[in-house]
Amino acid sequence: MTITMNAPEPDRADTAPRVLICATGAAAVLSLPHVLIAIREKTECHLTVVMSASAARFVTPQAIRHIADELVDASDPDEAFAAGHMKLAMDADLILVLPCTAATLSAAAHGLAHDLIPAIVLASPKPVIFLPSMHRVMWEKPAIQRNVRQLRADGYEVPDPIWRKGYELADHSFEAHPGLGAPMALAQLVQARVGARRSAAA
Ligand SMILES: Cc1cc2nc3c(=O)[nH]c(=O)nc-3n(C[C@H](O)[C@H](O)[C@H](O)COP(=O)(O)O)c2cc1C
Repeated sequence: MTITMNAPEPDRADTAPRVLICATGAAAVLSLPHVLIAIREKTECHLTVVMSASAARFVTPQAIRHIADELVDASDPDEAFAAGHMKLAMDADLILVLPCTAATLSAAAHGLAHDLIPAIVLASPKPVIFLPSMHRVMWEKPAIQRNVRQLRADGYEVPDPIWRKGYELADHSFEAHPGLGAPMALAQLVQARVGARRSAAA
């Protein structure tokens, strides 16, 4: 499989800020298409998405290809290898790990580069924002809280997750869990960081 590079829209100039979304396999990745569309509506930017192998089990990369300018589907090892962590990291003005699993959060806190997304984080000279989403029990574990503190101490941005009562895929419970904010709130976060308004939706 080859990396998809959609033809950029005429108004999306080469000078547009380059936003890289690293999507990992939290249940909240089911909202990824809505988040990407909200970013598109709010911000004039070049949008690249990297999906971890787990993320690609929740949402089809084919759907994301219709929204992003570029997509790397890391469930295909050849595609992940060809994309290159250094190039992806160096090309981006802003990186969001969205949603961020306990696994990827912990890997980043320990400086691991065993997989494409943690390797991108490690290789990035630019700001990286982690947006964790996981079961309440996982979030409250001392190891995760320690890893969040470590990431913040290392200069990364880890906003407090939004607590929302709802259906939890992992155990079919219906209680409050920490996760992502609404798509438009996430789009506003991106816009605030890259400062490129899309005039019609600003
Ligand atoms: C149905 C289901 C829901 C899951 N939800 C989450 C979640 O919300 N947060 C999380 O940290 N892990 C969740 N996981 C576990 C991750 O998918 C797993 O740890 C995976 O290895 C993460 O890999 P990645 O970080 O490379 O995407 C879930 C797994 C399943 C099967």
